[in-house]
Amino acid sequence: MLNGERLISRPIRWAMVGGGRTGQVGYKHRTGALRDNTAFELVAGAFDIDAERGKDFGVNIGVPENRCYPDYQTMFAEEADREDGIDVVSIATPNATHYDICKAALEADLHVICEKPLFFTTEEAQFIKELAEEKGKIVGVTYGFSGHQLLLQMRAMIEQGKIGDVRVVDLQYTHGFCATDEGDQKNDAQKWRVDPKVAGPSFVLGDLSTHTYYMSQLILPHMKIKKLLCDRQSFVGSRAPLEDNAHVLMHYDNGAVGTMWTSSINAGCMDAQRIRIVGSKASLEWWDSRPNELRYEVQGEPVQTMIRAMPYLDESCNADERLGALHAEGLSESWANIYLKFAMAIDAKDRGDKETLKNLVYPDIDTGLEGVRWVENCVRSADQGAVWVDFE
Ligand code: NAI
Repeated sequence: MLNGERLISRPIRWAMVGGGRTGQVGYKHRTGALRDNTAFELVAGAFDIDAERGKDFGVNIGVPENRCYPDYQTMFAEEADREDGIDVVSIATPNATHYDICKAALEADLHVICEKPLFFTTEEAQFIKELAEEKGKIVGVTYGFSGHQLLLQMRAMIEQGKIGDVRVVDLQYTHGFCATDEGDQKNDAQKWRVDPKVAGPSFVLGDLSTHTYYMSQLILPHMKIKKLLCDRQSFVGSRAPLEDNAHVLMHYDNGAVGTMWTSSINAGCMDAQRIRIVGSKASLEWWDSRPNELRYEVQGEPVQTMIRAMPYLDESCNADERLGALHAEGLSESWANIYLKFAMAIDAKDRGDKETLKNLVYPDIDTGLEGVRWVENCVRSADQGAVWVDFE
């Protein structure tokens, strides 16, 4: 169980690019990283594309004025000259900027934590992976839901054979907030999501399904997709060629099959993300709107609801427990768990502790690369007319 005590030698000096006053995701990063105050300290930032607003925001949240920078290039250069300069930077900016900022950060000898979808192409992701290796740095990816502990319970139970052989992987990440084009006109964060120059080759496949795809990999680390078929649509026509709805069929290397439904036009949907794994004996099902509950359905027996923080859960799951039984945890705890693992990975990397790094399960550059690969394959299939393609 976690109680905020220090797990690394000193808090890591942390900066953000983006995630400022108007940014949607910035606060999630801060609630995650600063949860324990023994993992990270926020000492600098280039928080906003608007330098003045960024500085005003930074000062407001307690960052020294002289370390609120007008842009990331200035921040990396000036922080490099300080004895107490930053160790790591989080990138919480629109998709098209991730690659350049990530590359510049690694070249400035910084660890990186970057938003998903990581980049536009697997070539970019491969290049960054190699650069990070050369520089001895980690690149973490903020798949923000993946810190919910019950996902590790699913992983452990499947590994222990509790559902038998995996047959069906049923994934869904949908919502209805883009059922019309209203937000595309009025909401800055939505405008760029449907512009291929900023969002990349996809809308919901990159924006939503990369999360769920990563979680399926976390739960099923030994299963790989062999081929897939993706059918994507732009129900709001002005979004074309970017999709606001997609269905994907998958074939896995062990004979299992899977589906992913990802959509932003699922009108009325408030129960967004679902993972159901069907085995030969039983199934497991988890929803992100009820993250403290895991359904375990054994064929022929009453359905069991497993509850977070209970002693019957696997050790790997309860290791990330924070609030204890009777008290609900949520997305903030999930982010805190991920950020704590980033801190431990950075600390281990700096100390050359390969053993810790080998055993630490967190969304790293390989998972970021895999997310880019997922989108690339889905788009390739869809754009050939929804045909089966080998997963390359
Ligand atoms: P947003 O449009 O709401 O905010 C973007 C922020 O970046 C703004 O503060 C803007 O001023 C700043 N910015 C843009 N260019 C910049 C630059 N060159 N230098 C400094 N600041 C810059 O976007 P949102 O929704 O916060 O998304 C940002 C990223 O986070 C995207 O990649 C998105 O896919 C991802 N995201 C991830 C979520 C998760 O759960 N992990 C949830 C929401 C978004």
